[in-house]
Amino acid sequence: MTTDFKIRSPLFISFEGIDGCGKTTQINLLKEFLIQNKCEVIVAREPGGTEISEQIRNILLHSKHKISPVSELLLFSAARSVLVQDLIKPALESGKIVICDRFFDSTLAYQAYGRGLDLEDVKQCNQLASNGLVPDLTFFLSVSLELSKRRMENKAQFDRFERAGDAFFNKVINGFEQIAKEEPNRVFKISSENPIQDVAQQIIEKIVSI
Ligand code: TYD
Repeated sequence: MTTDFKIRSPLFISFEGIDGCGKTTQINLLKEFLIQNKCEVIVAREPGGTEISEQIRNILLHSKHKISPVSELLLFSAARSVLVQDLIKPALESGKIVICDRFFDSTLAYQAYGRGLDLEDVKQCNQLASNGLVPDLTFFLSVSLELSKRRMENKAQFDRFERAGDAFFNKVINGFEQIAKEEPNRVFKISSENPIQDVAQQIIEKIVSI
């Protein structure tokens, strides 16, 4: 890669994909690269990232009670609304780069394609919760269900989503594929079955090219 590059800021980057797709590894590598290049970076995760959103996260991932798909959608949206208002918007306004581990594409993929809620309803809810904010770049890390399951084999405990089963995850994968097809200028699909450093390199090349 050329050493003569400029990284745009502010910049809002989201990472998407099914559980076990390798987002966390890639986000950490990207954060390191950006810091080495003197960028101010903030990493947030969804659901979560603020005190209130982390409390909502706990309900969404670990509640013993049944949560209906609509309630789930509204809880994710509430958590997102707080995160956008309190953390993401102020950071972008002060010129920082924000990396978000999931954003509204996860809601489309999991709650609309996965749970079966109406696509238009979910899009409207996304728009409201994000207050119109759209990532500049989204990386969809694609991985087969088999490999993602193998990567998660050693986890001690599974959350509500990780226990959802193959049929659900196949629908979620199809959801992310559709989103990537519909928004090719924003969403970049990268196979995360390739070696970690290759994936990281593709991500960096895209970021320095915009
Ligand atoms: P998390 O532990 O962050 O998963 P991972 O580390 O694999 O990204 O858990 C978040 C879970 O919530 C994940 O299974 C996806 C799900 N989710 C939704 O269903 N809708 C959403 O809008 C978001 C942000 C996440």
